[in-house]
Amino acid sequence: MGLALVGRRITEGRREAVKREGEERSLQQGLTRRRILLGSWIVATLVLLGEGMASLLRYLKPRTRGKFGGEIVAGVVTEFPPGSITHIQKGKFYLVHLDSGFLAMWHRCTHLGCTVPWKEEDQRFECPCHGSIFNKKGEVLSGPAPRPLDLFPLRIIRGQIVVDTGQVIERTRFDPAQTVSAHLRQEQEKG
Ligand code: FES
Repeated sequence: MGLALVGRRITEGRREAVKREGEERSLQQGLTRRRILLGSWIVATLVLLGEGMASLLRYLKPRTRGKFGGEIVAGVVTEFPPGSITHIQKGKFYLVHLDSGFLAMWHRCTHLGCTVPWKEEDQRFECPCHGSIFNKKGEVLSGPAPRPLDLFPLRIIRGQIVVDTGQVIERTRFDPAQTVSAHLRQEQEKG
């Protein structure tokens, strides 16, 4: 009788210990999971705050006029006859006068960023770094450039061509709607 009682107590004691161990383990697991969740939440919050701060700083940063990154006055419309391609060095773009209007194309190759010179004799842009070739509208004639030359927004204000080099427009192909017509603009200004 006495031995059976002792045996039962030992078994109960073991069961208790196993139960306690299980509880501790699940408590630990719960804590670890909570720590991971908290850590992920902190990281996500920091990333969001960082992005918010970067946008705010970009917004607050004064826009430089007359320098790359700000608005550049390329000149008056009549200085750029139809068919002309003019390199505006201070704005790092080509002002191209097509039949449908003006385009301001960043002179930066869309492959790895080399400056792309205009080859008047071949009527095309040729990148000296890896050989990409673009036509006068900036479209890729041969790679490795993945897309046409990027654009900057252009406005014609009282006969002057103003280009905003702070905003880059990427495109997949040329569309006449990307050009700004001086003729149309003059009519709009009159009307
Ligand atoms: S940077 Fe122009 S082709 Fe590579």
